[in-house]
Amino acid sequence: MLSILIKTVGLLASVTSASVQIIPGATITTAGTKQHMQAHGGGIIEVDNVFYQIGENKLNGSAFQSINCYSSTDLVQWTFVNRLLTLQSAGDLGPNRVVERPHVLYNDATSNYVMWMHIDNSSYGEARAGVATSSSICGNYTYLGASQPLGFQSRDLNVFKDTDGTAYLLTEDRANGLRIDLLSSDYLSVKSATYLYVQDYEAPALYKSGSIYFMFASHESGWGKFLTVQITFPGCKFSPNDNIYCTATSLAGPWSAWADFATAGSNTFSSQTAAVVNINGVVMYQGDRWESANLMTSTYVWLPLTLSGTTATLHNEVNWILNILAGTWSNGPSETTPEAESSANSWAGGAKILSCSPCSNASEVGYIGGPSPGGTLTFKEISSTVATTTTIRIHYNNGDSTQRYANVITNGVSKVVAFLPTTSDVPGTSTLTVPLQAGTGNTIVFEAYNSGWAPDIDRLMVPVS
Ligand SMILES: *[C@@H]1O[C@H](CO)[C@@H](O)[C@H](O)[C@H]1NC(C)=O
Ligand SMILES: *[C@@H]1O[C@H](CO)[C@@H](O)[C@H](O)[C@H]1NC(C)=O
Ligand SMILES: *[C@@H]1O[C@H](CO)[C@@H](O)[C@H](O)[C@H]1NC(C)=O
Ligand SMILES: *[C@@H]1O[C@H](CO)[C@@H](O)[C@H](O)[C@H]1NC(C)=O
Repeated sequence: MLSILIKTVGLLASVTSASVQIIPGATITTAGTKQHMQAHGGGIIEVDNVFYQIGENKLNGSAFQSINCYSSTDLVQWTFVNRLLTLQSAGDLGPNRVVERPHVLYNDATSNYVMWMHIDNSSYGEARAGVATSSSICGNYTYLGASQPLGFQSRDLNVFKDTDGTAYLLTEDRANGLRIDLLSSDYLSVKSATYLYVQDYEAPALYKSGSIYFMFASHESGWGKFLTVQITFPGCKFSPNDNIYCTATSLAGPWSAWADFATAGSNTFSSQTAAVVNINGVVMYQGDRWESANLMTSTYVWLPLTLSGTTATLHNEVNWILNILAGTWSNGPSETTPEAESSANSWAGGAKILSCSPCSNASEVGYIGGPSPGGTLTFKEISSTVATTTTIRIHYNNGDSTQRYANVITNGVSKVVAFLPTTSDVPGTSTLTVPLQAGTGNTIVFEAYNSGWAPDIDRLMVPVS
């Protein structure tokens, strides 16, 4: 019953929300927590027309806190559902442990969801693969234990279910290379070796397109671009890099030479492969933009991936529209870009114009929120040519090391929005998906949430239609 209801809502949302957009690199405020999505290093799995993002909670640093699950019907609006694995007092899931890259498969024969994940100690000396199961996708998982698959080290890992139901573990064996291992029919153990790439690659993701297998991976990179805590692996570059792929018609090979799939030199648009998924016909790359100095601020780089023959190509998009019903995607909409400091707006309660050289028009409005009565900023002339639910990008600054929040009231309807930290006044992007009316009379008010300071607001990017 519940799933029928969700499906119907999903269908309606897709029809009436022509410009709901996916925004790579943005703060994604999730319903339920009102915080940025904490599901890093994971991927999306679809169950009964609902999409679930399962990944690592990095809210408080790198050590294991929980594996989180969020749900969505449009991949834009996400709701926190459950902590699938939680911090235990001791053991593999205890304090100061590494639990990374959780990936889930459904086993048709046992009707179980099976999660594989990297299990390690804080110096990455154990290098084991752990497994857990649950009877529901976002339920509590039972942890079954960890081991070195076939006796080899296992760090970054992923899973792959072939079209015949056979499943494989992809595992990074630092001593020998990247492995594809066959899983047992219940998916709970590793049965035999299928292939070994001798290159030192990590962050694997495998996708099958027709009869062609695409293997994606990254060069070894540690925690992204601002690494402060050195995790000492030989050969690590500690920065994002140009991720690579190769193809084969059999998992056992032969595999083609590795090649770039994103623009060379872009470091895969500053991201590392987490997963490659099929969203009702649209192939989507899921990457992590790791921010190692403050891991909870890491964002998600989700982009449409073009697979043609044996070629994979990834283009960057500031924003894009995924039409799940049609199984198509399109570029982001035309936009108006109202400035916070525009004379069309009003501000009160101490809010004022600040200079900000990296901001558009070199200005922003600050001192929004704060103790009662608190500063407010009101955009008065937000226009849309149609009545629609749309995604507005908010360009903001937050010089703190933790999230700021604002209560954002669109045409009288409140929504709490989170804003990740930014550096050097370079505006960050947060997303606001709300209904707009046709015409120029939409209003959007930014005010305090729980008496806290809101971010400084640079401008909004509002879809025209
Ligand atoms: C955050 O992590 C640190 C180190 O792992 C731990 O000591 C502390 O208790 C954690 N804080 C919270 C609020 O969980
Ligand atoms: C992690 O495990 C390895 C292998 O057992 C061990 O040599 C190392 O001392 C451990 N590190 C920590 C911090 O416990
Ligand atoms: C799942 O675990 C949490 C504790 O982490 C518990 O409160 C909850 O009742 C459990 N849910 C089910 C369905 O067992
Ligand atoms: C640019 O900023 C100034 C104040 O710094 C403001 O008066 C002006 O209206 C802004 N221009 C636009 C187009 O918003």
